[in-house]
Amino acid sequence: MFALSPEGLERVKKEMRRYETKQSAIIPALYIAQQENNGWISDEVIDYLSRVMEIPAAQINEVFKFYTMFNQKPVGRYHVQVCGTLSCHVNGAPELIEFLCRHLGVKLDEMTADGKFTISRVECLGSCGTAPMMQVNDTYYENLTPEKALQILKNLP
Ligand code: FES
Repeated sequence: MFALSPEGLERVKKEMRRYETKQSAIIPALYIAQQENNGWISDEVIDYLSRVMEIPAAQINEVFKFYTMFNQKPVGRYHVQVCGTLSCHVNGAPELIEFLCRHLGVKLDEMTADGKFTISRVECLGSCGTAPMMQVNDTYYENLTPEKALQILKNLP
């Protein structure tokens, strides 16, 4: 049964106090819950947030399904999100994604057997001037080549 830690719950309550309507706190609440649920949001997490925030689960679910930053299934310890939007696309994102998937032996959105990585293609991450780029958990890596990106992943503990 999912439940936030006392600190996580306090963070959600603080977000709810910050806004005029509690619905405005759905995004930060999902973000906090995802951090505490190994990087993804399950139905159980939605139900829990619904109870704690007193917001219908359907409303939370709508927000959850709209944003790609929320994961609908378990991801690796390192979630590698490669931007595939225009600037990154024309600067080599498709080759970068293909290279990483081939070297890690996974398909897109699949977790490596050791649970360490999941490679995803995402929409613009706002770093178009340094394309192609990827976000690994909360860190941006920019001006990548496939080899450079793989080396970054290999250097992660
Ligand atoms: S197009 Fe890739 S960060 Fe904007």
